[in-house]
Parts: sequence; structure tokens; C-alpha cells
Amino acid sequence: MSKTIDLSGKRALVTGGASGIGETTAKLLVELGARVVIADINAGALAGAANRIQAEGVTAGDVVSAADVERMVADTVGVLGGIDLVFNSAGVGDDLVPVHEQEPERWQRVVDVNLKGTYLVCREAGKHMVAQKSGAIVNVSSIVGLGAFPGRSAYGVAKAGVVHLTSTLACEWGHLGIRVNAIAPAYTRTPLVQDLLDRKIFDPGLIERRTPLARLAQSTEMASAVAFLLSDWASYVTGVTLPVDGGWNAYGAAGDVMKVRHG
Ligand SMILES: NC(=O)c1ccc[n+]([C@@H]2O[C@H](COP(=O)([O-])OP(=O)(O)OC[C@H]3O[C@@H](n4cnc5c(N)ncnc54)[C@H](O)[C@@H]3O)[C@@H](O)[C@H]2O)c1
Repeated sequence: MSKTIDLSGKRALVTGGASGIGETTAKLLVELGARVVIADINAGALAGAANRIQAEGVTAGDVVSAADVERMVADTVGVLGGIDLVFNSAGVGDDLVPVHEQEPERWQRVVDVNLKGTYLVCREAGKHMVAQKSGAIVNVSSIVGLGAFPGRSAYGVAKAGVVHLTSTLACEWGHLGIRVNAIAPAYTRTPLVQDLLDRKIFDPGLIERRTPLARLAQSTEMASAVAFLLSDWASYVTGVTLPVDGGWNAYGAAGDVMKVRHG
């Protein structure tokens, strides 16, 4: 085994690669030796991101569209000659309203981007991995997929679905040498979350008090977990959803107990 995580020559597709956790992870994969294509619905942001992270190619499209996903995977194979690794980071947040006030169409779109999009990319890239009998995929769930958050039914259902999709694919493809895992991030300082913090939709102090490590995450801390799961260092790890959450899921006490802990 290599002394460090080594992705030399691995051909990787990163969805949602034009921003946040996707961009930061794509950058780390390049630094670890991988050849990377980034995909995103935000076509205008792709070129700049590719330039910043030294990606070999870009492909624009909507992960909810089977035709777009087919083309994005084909573009990736066209640029790189194949596909060994996938990081499915494309995702959107939801409206923070209770179920009885939410528009069904909006609910469906949030579920579709986060769950159907992940399914379609796994399915299309998986065809290549099944044919070559190797590959590794990391999907993105969330702490919201592991425990219920009021006002986040669409996002929570989708991210819980990602947990199950991940374990199902691991069981379907394990005998073919293909590993499928997920990360479940807690609040991570990406442009998306920073905007919510700036607009005071989240209270960072409350999040810090609820988190045993007492701070929000940096996207580099998601990227390193993803790189591990995509690498041979995780060669016997499949079907898991790894919380990368500063201890969020480990913590079970009521808010008042946190106040005692913090004096
Ligand atoms: N930031 C957090 O605190 C946090 C916590 C838990 C999970 N997550 C998940 O991590 C992933 C990345 O989030 P982020 O914070 O980096 O957000 P971000 O908004 O910075 O990046 C998401 C990227 O996905 C792209 N995207 C959105 N819809 C798409 C679609 N239909 N097709 C293709 N691309 C699409 C966006 O254009 C954007 O570039 C998401 O799946 C998100 O749900 C984030």
C-alpha cells in the first residue's frame, strides 16, 4: 500500500464540481494524482472552477435528466478514456417550510436533484465500472438524512434515500470489485451555507453548541473523507455512510445539557 492516498492515473467524474464541496474535492483528487472532469448544471461556473482546480474537462447538464447524465458520463469517458471514480456532490437545499405549506412540485424537485440525480449518475457510470469490473463511488447524504429536521422533509427524504441507494449498490456491485459509499456531512462552510448564515437563516452559535467539535466544518474536511473512501486505503469499505459531522450524530442530549457543558 502507498504511504499516502494515491490516486495517480485514476479517471474521476465529480458532479456539482463547480462549487463548494464538489469543487474542493475535485481539487484534492487532482492533487492526489487523479484526472478529473467536473459536471454541473451551472454551465457559467464550470470553466472558472476547472481553471482553479486543474480539471481536464467540464460537462454541463442537469443530473435529474437521464439524457443529460448519459451525455455527461459519455463526455467524461471521451475526455479521460474511461471512468474509475465518481463523487456525486450535485445537490440543492430545500425551502425550510413544514410539509403542509410546501408546494408538491418544489418537494419533488428537491428529491429529484438529490436522490434521482445520484441514482442516474451511479447507474450510468456504473455501466462502465461493471464492464471493467472496478470502480469506486462516493455519494453525499447529510446529517439531515440520518435524523429528522423540521422543515426539511424533501431534503431529508432524499438524503435518507441516498443512504439506502448507497448500500443497495454496494451489495449489487461488490462482487464486481466496485465499492459504493457515502458521506453524511454536517454544516459545512460552502458558498451555499455561507449565504444562509449571512441571511441569518441558520444561527452559527446554535450549531456550534450542538456540535461536539464546537464548530462548523470546512469543505476540505469533506474532501479528505471522500478521497479516503475513493482510494485503495478504503479497499474493504463499501456500503457505508460515513458521518463527517464533528460528532453531531454521536450527541444525544437535550440542549440544556449543552449549556451546562459549555459553562
Ligand atoms: N454545505 C453543507 O453544509 C452540506 C451539508 C450536508 C450535505 N451537503 C451536500 O453536499 C453537496 C454539495 O453541497 P455544497 O454545500 O457544496 O453546495 P453548493 O451549492 O456549493 O454546490 C452544489 C453544486 O451542485 C450543482 N447542482 C445543483 N443542482 C444540480 C443539478 N440538477 N445538476 C447538476 N448540478 C447541480 C450546483 O450548481 C452547485 O455547483 C450537496 O449534495 C449538499 O446537499 C452539504
